[in-house]
Amino acid sequence: MIEQIKLDLKNKLEAFYKDKYSQDIQMVVETPKKVEMGDISIPMFMAVKALRKPMPEIVAEAIEAIKGFNLPIKSISNAGAFINMFIDKTELSKEIIIEALTKDEKYGESNIGLGKNIVLDYSSPNIAKSFSVGHLRSTMIGNSLKLILQKCGYNTTAINYLGDWGTQFGKMIVAIEKWGNIDEIKKDPINELSRLYVKVNDEEKNDPSIGDLARAAFRKIEMGEEKYVSMWKWIREESLKESEQIYDLLDVNFDSYNGEAFYNDKMDPVVDELEKKGILELDQGAMVVKLEDDIPPALIKRSDGGTLYITRDLAAVFYRKKEYNFEKALYVVGGEQKLHFLQLKGVLAKMGYQELSDSIYHVNFGLVLKDGKKMSTRKGNVVKLYDILMQAIQSAKAQIEEKNPNMANKDEIATKVGCGAVVFNDLKNFRALDYEFDINQMVKFEGQTGPYLQYTGVRIASILKDKTFDYNNVDVTLFEKPHYFELVKLISQFRMTVEKAAAEFAPSVVAKYLLSLAASFNKFYSLEKINVEDEKTRNTNFAVAKSVRIVLNEGLRLLGIHYLDEM
Ligand code: ARG
Repeated sequence: MIEQIKLDLKNKLEAFYKDKYSQDIQMVVETPKKVEMGDISIPMFMAVKALRKPMPEIVAEAIEAIKGFNLPIKSISNAGAFINMFIDKTELSKEIIIEALTKDEKYGESNIGLGKNIVLDYSSPNIAKSFSVGHLRSTMIGNSLKLILQKCGYNTTAINYLGDWGTQFGKMIVAIEKWGNIDEIKKDPINELSRLYVKVNDEEKNDPSIGDLARAAFRKIEMGEEKYVSMWKWIREESLKESEQIYDLLDVNFDSYNGEAFYNDKMDPVVDELEKKGILELDQGAMVVKLEDDIPPALIKRSDGGTLYITRDLAAVFYRKKEYNFEKALYVVGGEQKLHFLQLKGVLAKMGYQELSDSIYHVNFGLVLKDGKKMSTRKGNVVKLYDILMQAIQSAKAQIEEKNPNMANKDEIATKVGCGAVVFNDLKNFRALDYEFDINQMVKFEGQTGPYLQYTGVRIASILKDKTFDYNNVDVTLFEKPHYFELVKLISQFRMTVEKAAAEFAPSVVAKYLLSLAASFNKFYSLEKINVEDEKTRNTNFAVAKSVRIVLNEGLRLLGIHYLDEM
């Protein structure tokens, strides 16, 4: 809101000078260093320089002009070359609060993305292998970005580009044939398949022939041999269930599960085109595309004719462009794959598709650390990600038992709190940063945590429970008080914040904002008794609290976190 007034001031003053002196003067509108000087300050040096008139004359003229602009300015004065002003926070604040209350969950929506399509490729686990912590990060960041982009009006397509193709499937088949028992597997597929996958990898260490058998088995899948294809299908289905347990917990969903296998028959045209364009080169029997800017050549076909990860990604780009006509394609993938995406963009550019290449964004993220080292989850072995989430849920439940032992649906709430804790902990810092995974820390109800935000929302819900109030009948003078105005200002910044998060592909922008909002509300709560006798004051307090709750709930939703009425 203040930002808007500043912008209006700048535009109007510039237009004023243009009109009166036919001069284009760039005006700067700032926030004064000291609060007691005002809310807005304008240095007049530029105007003095451009118009070559004495400073007092310029300042006096500008003050008169500003008074005529019809902006909510309460007082205006000058200190040397600076014009300082206080804005009238009363009616302005009321308008903001009423907007939040009436728009409710639609508050903060924008239309910057209207009519534009964005494709998001996220989660994308390598099924039959373990669902790694990296895949969890991708899932949470991608899901939040999707919601943030939708809030800005974009049309989104969420793709889970499953790693459902490759030698790991050959390995599973070898393991099933050697040690498996179909009936046993069918009873408990997820665990039985995990066990077999761990076993085959262990055995391979002593018996390298397993690797050859696995490649041969995978080759049979590629060649479309029916028995093997149907085994692949079955393993794919069953392995996917492990990921789906996690998606269910986190409430994440996708528009497409077209993974690498889907592109098996779509690579030839791309390879042909590369060949026709003369950019495919033979290098020690393999086919490569050489790239500029010190980027190593992209390997498109192995010497045995096998295709690669990048070959499938190229086919996928063309398919998605045709299918979804995207303006941008986001790949939420760890920083380790930086080179892969540089190569993907490089090959597209070299093919002459510069614009397409530029529309691809590698939305990278950092590592999850445990005691300072890269955290790993080994399927069937030690820790599974699902179990880690369960641990967070247990920890949330223990706290709920302590705080609110008689609550009805404790398990459901514990699930929302535990998952919210993990998600918030992941999203609160800029995604490219590494972070340490500490369940006890992230599930705390105080501090910079998801549960703290949920708890703040719950506190407001209980204040407002069974209360009615008339938001038109408020005491606008209260908005001049700093702790009221601070909240109003934050509420007014919600849309801008979401837009910034969308532009930077950074859910952390929303996460950090919510922490400030909650902190500001809790300060307000410590200073004001909310449910007071005086009707106008009470209405104002309720209206402010309700607006905070609206923004808090909606902000949490954008991060992929459930808000609650009690906990
Ligand atoms: N399955 C890959 C992995 O786990 C991630 C896929 C990312 N998306 C893509 N289009 N390359 O490493």
